[in-house]
Amino acid sequence: MTVDPTPLDEGRALVIDNIGSLITNDPTLGRGPLGIVEHASVVIVDGRVESVGHAGAIADERIDAEGVCVLPGFVDSHTHLVFAGDRAAEFTARMAGEPYDGGGIRVTTDATRAATTVELDRLLRRRLDEAHRAGTTTIEIKSGYGLNVDDERRSLEIARDHTGETTFLGAHLLPAEYAGRPDDYVDLVCNEMLDQAAPHAAWVDAFCETGAFDADQCRAVLDAGRAAGLGLRLHGNQLGHGPGVQLAVECGCASVDHCTYLTDADIEALAASDTVATFLPAADFSTRQPYPDARRAIDAGVRVAIASNCNPGSSYTTSISFCIALAVRDMHMTIDEAVQAVTLGGARALRRADVGRLAPGAAGHAVILDAPTHHHLAYRPGVPLISRTIGPLGDYSVR
Ligand code: NIG
Repeated sequence: MTVDPTPLDEGRALVIDNIGSLITNDPTLGRGPLGIVEHASVVIVDGRVESVGHAGAIADERIDAEGVCVLPGFVDSHTHLVFAGDRAAEFTARMAGEPYDGGGIRVTTDATRAATTVELDRLLRRRLDEAHRAGTTTIEIKSGYGLNVDDERRSLEIARDHTGETTFLGAHLLPAEYAGRPDDYVDLVCNEMLDQAAPHAAWVDAFCETGAFDADQCRAVLDAGRAAGLGLRLHGNQLGHGPGVQLAVECGCASVDHCTYLTDADIEALAASDTVATFLPAADFSTRQPYPDARRAIDAGVRVAIASNCNPGSSYTTSISFCIALAVRDMHMTIDEAVQAVTLGGARALRRADVGRLAPGAAGHAVILDAPTHHHLAYRPGVPLISRTIGPLGDYSVR
């Protein structure tokens, strides 16, 4: 089969028929938590799932899945896709033993500030096309490589043309010109920068980590973002234990992302909250960090997601399939858990009920695998198994 991204036109009734194994993520429709239906069809009308049933449904247009596996389009709830420049040298040095401390964010900030808007948009479109071909149909995009009022606003304006899930991350790292004056910078983020960013953002985020911003600074950013009408998310517990997870729960964040280092108290707090723990295993891979103890979190009742964290420093991949393979091999998640974490889990992390599942009323975003079951996503690592992505190429804002 060939890669053929298919936008869904208004009024068109499409059936994906002859599906060997359909993942619906709706246990009322099929077997187990993934709601698996065998020998299935999905009818999509006006971009929405109209029905799920046995093979043989009729519609204006038919895709014959030839007995393979079909699953909901991936929901990538954490990316940093607006940037210019390259940090392959940093990665190479890391593989030779250098540690990752996030300081390279300033290298990307210099390159991003220097790039034209046309160039930034061209680079973003290429990465989105890559992600879409790899099965992602809903994507969150953060700013965070501008770190001044104009370039943070510009990054969000560029991202907003491609997704409704845009996140203002002015508190990513202290820019060089504010060295020694972190409180002045946080004040800028919470006021003038937020005023300019908020019209183009759905979410606010901050990097809560030693070397980036502390809990009080991050709380100030989250409070200001909430007052401006934005949803809350947080980077936390990436490079060591710290206050990020507890702060995210305290503030009611939709998601706390990384969670590489979790104490028992962190897990208890997450399990008792609505905050999703989003794991970013490709970052742990590319920075030679340990992997998060996902098993312990899931067994304690924490709701989890997995995202790519595509960025030029810690995780330069758009491949959700790769993340699934890592989660299964190195985080001891079952294949079912990992597949659900990149679909329904990502949707929950974005507080979206319309994506991440293939059930009546949901968005008709689907991935057709060149494989009989979803197990192949972990069983055949590195193999491009996504043969077709059916979703809103270039418009991820279906709500
Ligand atoms: O999520 N942790 C902070 N931000 C990114 C890394 C950014 C970079 O190194 O450029 C992350 O891993």
